[in-house]
Amino acid sequence: MKYRKCGHSGVFLPEISLGLWHNFGATSDFREARAMILTAFERGVCHFDLANNYGPPPGSAETTFGRILHDDLAMHRDELFISSKAGHDMWSGVYGTGSSRKNLIASCDASLRRTGLEYFDVFYSHRYDGVTPVEETMQALIDIVRSGKALYAGISKYPPAEQQRAYDILREAKVPCLLSQYRASIFDRSAIETNFRPAAANGSGIICFSPLAQGLLTDKYLNGIPPTSRAANKDGFLQLSDVTPEKVEAARRLNEIAASRGQSLAQMAVAWLLADSRVTSVIVGTSSVRQLENNLAAIDSPEFTPEELAAIDEVYKNQTRR
Ligand SMILES: NC(=O)c1ccc[n+]([C@@H]2O[C@H](COP(=O)([O-])OP(=O)(O)OC[C@H]3O[C@@H](n4cnc5c(N)ncnc54)[C@H](OP(=O)(O)O)[C@@H]3O)[C@@H](O)[C@H]2O)c1
Repeated sequence: MKYRKCGHSGVFLPEISLGLWHNFGATSDFREARAMILTAFERGVCHFDLANNYGPPPGSAETTFGRILHDDLAMHRDELFISSKAGHDMWSGVYGTGSSRKNLIASCDASLRRTGLEYFDVFYSHRYDGVTPVEETMQALIDIVRSGKALYAGISKYPPAEQQRAYDILREAKVPCLLSQYRASIFDRSAIETNFRPAAANGSGIICFSPLAQGLLTDKYLNGIPPTSRAANKDGFLQLSDVTPEKVEAARRLNEIAASRGQSLAQMAVAWLLADSRVTSVIVGTSSVRQLENNLAAIDSPEFTPEELAAIDEVYKNQTRR
């Protein structure tokens, strides 16, 4: 594994991290979940990304992770960097969602209980909710850090104005924003274009989620919708309607470019993000050890030639034009 320094901090993260959004809940195969986490750890993936609502049911990915941590990795706690987040729908009632202090503090406590951890390495505000003042949410993060429940604070999916406000408040409180988490991939460039520059300018590390566009940037959907895919799963966030002929055609062309580079499309999609030196880490999701192994080989990707980058951009532009 290769490691990158996270913004202006002293923290290093693996270039590839493992996310537990799908495939680690109570409805998933526990043995495969355990094998993925242990394989990741053995291969130097020391960063695991959680959130209160990951499952299904919500909370169960943290419970799964806590069980594996307790049974297999307890003596390695100081080798691990573990995140969680709060802000999306979690429990019923008005306090079970959003970015209020009420939600964040209760969520952090509940996530610590589920995982059995004494502290998270980074705790995020999962989203700007459009209602809670950024001051309130950031003060909750500052207090979570100061109370020892997390070592660092992070933000996820904040729009540019709130993103900058968050950095300013956190910096002033001397709890600088360690990580900014945004969706980014060959198919989804909006955060790359709007949020990466301020993150880097403010000394925050950047960590990308859904680098494979939930599977669209792999060979998974090139020949139809496999029954064991996120798109076919009723609990999966990727909808059947997201697997459009345009996306599949673009993936087919990208797959050819990847093949000419001697790698899988998934590997090329991860390598494409890592070619941006502002990126600290890329969080992949996987449903099997085999996928994880495939993705980890992205670390040893050949550098992109200007022609390859232009060809990838051309595919991207063509599918957005339709
Ligand atoms: N901050 C936020 O709001 C936010 C939002 C979303 C995600 N995240 C974080 O980012 C992590 C990653 O997101 P994601 O799961 O959407 O990432 P992703 O890497 O874009 O998609 C993962 C899916 O792609 C497929 N896949 C992965 N490797 C493959 C391979 N080598 N060959 C074929 N298919 C492959 C699998 O689909 P199948 O399951 O169909 O096999 C897998 O479940 C999450 O777990 C979470 O930690 C954060």
